[in-house]
Formats: sequence, C-alpha cells, structure tokens
Amino acid sequence: MVETSKTSVLISGNWKMNQNHFEALKLIQELSALLRSLNGDSVLSPMTKVSIHPPFTSLRTVQTAVESDHIPVFLGAQTCHHLDKGAYTGEVSAEMLSKLGVQYVIAGHSERRQYFFETDEIVQKKVKAILHHGMHPILCVGETMEERQLGKANEKVQNQLREVFSQLSIEEALKVVVAYEPIWAIGTGETATSSDAEQMCSFIRTELASLSGNQVAEEALIQYGGSVNEQNAAELLAQENINGLLVGGASLDARKFVEICRA
Ligand code: 13P
Repeated sequence: MVETSKTSVLISGNWKMNQNHFEALKLIQELSALLRSLNGDSVLSPMTKVSIHPPFTSLRTVQTAVESDHIPVFLGAQTCHHLDKGAYTGEVSAEMLSKLGVQYVIAGHSERRQYFFETDEIVQKKVKAILHHGMHPILCVGETMEERQLGKANEKVQNQLREVFSQLSIEEALKVVVAYEPIWAIGTGETATSSDAEQMCSFIRTELASLSGNQVAEEALIQYGGSVNEQNAAELLAQENINGLLVGGASLDARKFVEICRA
C-alpha cells in the first residue's frame, strides 16, 4: 500500500452537453454568490480546489465571469483534440483551450470512449497535448458492470492507466489527475459504495507507484465520479485514497454543487 497525505482536494463539475451560454452565465453567477461570503472571501477550505467544465460554447462567458468576479474556481474543459491545428472540422485543440485560460481538461471520459470511439491510444495523445500546453489532464478510467461482474475491473483500469502513464515522464505524471468513474455508476443514481470506490482508488495508487514511482503515487490526486451528490460526497471524501470528486448531474445545481464542494 502506498502512503498518502491528503494535502488538497479537487472537486470538478462536468456540465457535459448542458447549459447554453445564457444558462451558463446564470449558473456561474449563482456559484459566485454561493462560493464567496459577503466580504468577497472564498467559503471553501484552503485545501479545496474547484474546477468547472462547461461546454466549449460557454468557456469564454464563464472565463470572463470567473476573472471579473474573482470566483474561486479553475476553468476546465471536457475534451480536446491532440493536434494544435489543422483540417479537423468541429474540433478544438488543447492549444486553443490553454489560450482561454483553461487549466484542467478531462481526457478519456467514458462517454467519449463509448460514443465517440476514443481509444486508449487517442486518450494518451490527448493527455500529452494537454500537458504540453501547461494544463492538467483529468484522466478518466473505469469499468462496465459486466467487467466488474466478471472480476475484470482491476485489469481494465490497469490497462487504461498503463497506456497513458507508460508514456509520461515523472514531471508529467505529477500533473495528471486520475478520475475513477465506474461506467455503471454514471448518471444512474447508483453510486459505488465508498468502500468499493476506496478499494479501486487504492489500487490505482499502487499501479501509479509501479508505473511512475512512489512520489507520483503519493502525490496523485485521485477523484471518484459517478452519481455523486450532496448526500454521499462527505463519505466518499473521507476515504483515504479519494482526494476529489468528478461531479456530473449535481454540478448543474449551484446549491448542491457548493454543498459538495464544502463536504
Ligand atoms: P453523474 O454525476 O451525473 O453520474 O456523472 C458523472 C460523470 O460522468 C462526471 O464526469
């Protein structure tokens, strides 16, 4: 088992394909009011960082609000292309995101893997591109229910980690956030039990030690995602190897999301 000292926690709100830019502006203003006290200070514990991941069309709107109102959140994106530019109609590059002030980019979300056929190889290239442009990748890994029932959950996650971390230097690996999102728990209301989530996050830490060494394993931010809400957040965060949450549905409700951030 790898020793870990929890010095910071990252709560990320993945808005997915929700919130047009009018709705996004309203949501970020609600977050602003709830995340700052009357004198403008953050209501978050000093060890809690928050990132929010709007759709591409709302990034600029949210970035402007975050900067002008000094909202204590980092700007995040949901995916990117691994090349800087070129004839790839409809795509947005990591380079473009970095110029917008984005600091965290999700890579390999299971919805991207499932609906947009992203392979481990593509995910690995995205992680490299995100790092190259000075941002933090949030690498998503996780098994289907069938894989879990067949006892193949660890093997699946191990392979997803290996594809990426085997290509990274220690300096690069130190910047990667790993999100364990069991596919069966996403959007279903069915959360992994805190002990199942903890077991897998502990396994991920051990794997990181063998792939990138002890420092990376000890310092890695490992999030859990899948039907996180204001009721289960505190118990998940109390687990030794869980130092963050990747929140979908509940991040669209400012009050619930802020409760999760303060859990
Ligand atoms: P839900 O919180 O809606 O289950 O979504 C989880 C997720 O996919 C976050 O990336």
